[in-house]
Amino acid sequence: MSELMQGLKRSCYCGDVNESMIGSDVTLMGWVSNRRVFSHFSFILLRDRTGIVQVFVDQEKNSEDILAKDKSLGKEYVIAVKGKVCARTPENVNDKMKTGKVEIAVEDLRILNESDQPPFHVEERVNVSTELRLKYRYLDLRRPNVAANLMMRHDVCRVVRNFLSDEGFIEIETPMLTKSTPEGARDYLVPSRVHPGNFYALPQSPQLFKQLLMVSGFDRYFQIAKCFRDEDLRADRQPEFTQIDMELSFVEENDVMEVNERLIKKVFKEVKGLDIETPFMRMPWIEAMERFGSDKPDIRFGMELKNITDIVNGSEFGVFQNAIDAGGSVRGICGEGLGSLPRKQIDALVEVAKTYGAKGLAWIVVNEDGFKTTISKFFDDAKLKEIAERFGAKAGDIILICADKDKVVFDALGALRLDCAKRLDLLKPDDYKFLWVTEFPMLEFDEEEQRYVAVHHPFTAPMDEDLQYIESDPGRVRAKAYDMVLNGCELGGGSIRIHSREIQSQMFKLLGFTQEDAQERFGFLLDAFKFGAPPHGGLAFGLDRLVMLLSGAESIRDVIAFPKVKDASCLLTDAPNIVEKKQLEELGIDIKVISEEE
Ligand code: AMO
Ligand code: AMP
Repeated sequence: MSELMQGLKRSCYCGDVNESMIGSDVTLMGWVSNRRVFSHFSFILLRDRTGIVQVFVDQEKNSEDILAKDKSLGKEYVIAVKGKVCARTPENVNDKMKTGKVEIAVEDLRILNESDQPPFHVEERVNVSTELRLKYRYLDLRRPNVAANLMMRHDVCRVVRNFLSDEGFIEIETPMLTKSTPEGARDYLVPSRVHPGNFYALPQSPQLFKQLLMVSGFDRYFQIAKCFRDEDLRADRQPEFTQIDMELSFVEENDVMEVNERLIKKVFKEVKGLDIETPFMRMPWIEAMERFGSDKPDIRFGMELKNITDIVNGSEFGVFQNAIDAGGSVRGICGEGLGSLPRKQIDALVEVAKTYGAKGLAWIVVNEDGFKTTISKFFDDAKLKEIAERFGAKAGDIILICADKDKVVFDALGALRLDCAKRLDLLKPDDYKFLWVTEFPMLEFDEEEQRYVAVHHPFTAPMDEDLQYIESDPGRVRAKAYDMVLNGCELGGGSIRIHSREIQSQMFKLLGFTQEDAQERFGFLLDAFKFGAPPHGGLAFGLDRLVMLLSGAESIRDVIAFPKVKDASCLLTDAPNIVEKKQLEELGIDIKVISEEE
């Protein structure tokens, strides 16, 4: 038995000490967050994963041994404290601290381990670079607010597991070393030693395996699954992330959406104490694009897009007319009260639009006595008034107009809408607005590859009423797909799958796969479909995104224990790294040295 811990048993966590415990003895373990010394007392702020409590050492009453130990303490020393819970005197109450009404009068103190001076002060608000925090992530995770995110993540997983188990879902693990899955990102590859020159792919999602499990008859499956996608990182994307993945047999869209609304309702109730109203609004994809310029609209605020193609059609303004003649449109948004933006900031908005492919942006500022606009040469006051009326614009507003192909117009205005909302402080984090976006297009024409690609994935079923267009007008076919969107973030997405071999083959043909290609890549699934595949569908949530939104974190990095940074490296372990020559030889791999010029 370790002498160090002999006779010590923690009685509660630091953050749980409260007024109801006044007068009782406690044994606490934790880290020294800070220590302040006064003439008669010293105060130790003791921290564990639940929070911080104040411990005081009395120079007159405590033993020499305790005083000596107290004096030797440094930041992040690990200690055990036995003592009595006391009420703080009124002038010493700290309302900002959860445990601010009490403190511990120390009766025994044991140093369990020392610590070097930490590279940054471990406290809620640290003023150091993200790089330093991630290099010492284990210290960063001691910060109670960061630890709280991970504990919330655990809570979410617990609620999800309980809910889905109660609903008859079976948790089944699927392989990590597998074959490429078609979610559209680049794969992470793992070389095989036994089969030199052959590679496993890490799964982009458990998609194909969960469909196979339906063929096996498990009929309700779920998994909290690690997924890997070699794509560019953003605030809501990591190369390695976690899905709450599920699949159900004998269902239609409604069944999948309904069970997931109840799941999310339960998570919000149990984790945040919030009542979320269900059912969620459902919005066809085309409506989301036309009203919000986005397939994941933030509906916490209005500022909807308006189409003014009909008003401006036939003008002398080449920019607008060319866009209309080429099959595009002219649309805009109205920034309420943003008419007074300085010119420089309006120019910044134009630049935002350009990053989405817009060639420019026209604007109209509505004044009490008329209009100030970049398009005065082409539109008289009567026309400008007609435009302003379409937006319901008032004096002090600015109308931002973009003319181009629909996709560019939607992307640019969708982004400007969010930009303006930020300027107007309309994005309240505690306002949770859910919706389902449905009826996604099945296919998208890829200009670069000059072929159709699946918007969701090639296993998504077309809507029955659009089956007739599969050969004649594939771009018109809508899918039985649905995304759950929360405050402008795609929380999760899924679809009803194709379970007929005939339609699946048709789909592969449309996507430009030859029969041999399809067999080579997905033969195992197509073969399985020969043996009684039930109708099925499912969905996957991004767990990291869900916890990010629940915790109010700004990036999914803040809810992942050991995240990666922008270039997909891990600052803590220095992965990825160069491996030994011998390892490469075993794998039959030769590294082509890339010269500096290249
Ligand atoms: P999809 O590709 O839409 O669907 O992914 C589902 C959800 O996973 C989350 N997500 C991510 N989170 C963090 N980092 C990433 N790089 C990342 N990529 C995706 C999103 C997204 O909504 N197999 C299908 C699901 C199905 O059809 O059942 C799939 O993977 O929140
Ligand atoms: P130009 O004729 O290029 O000087 O443009 C005249 C005005 O139209 C300027 O305010 C441009 O910013 C604006 N403009 C240019 N391209 C577009 C576009 N695609 N959509 C809307 N406005 C545009």
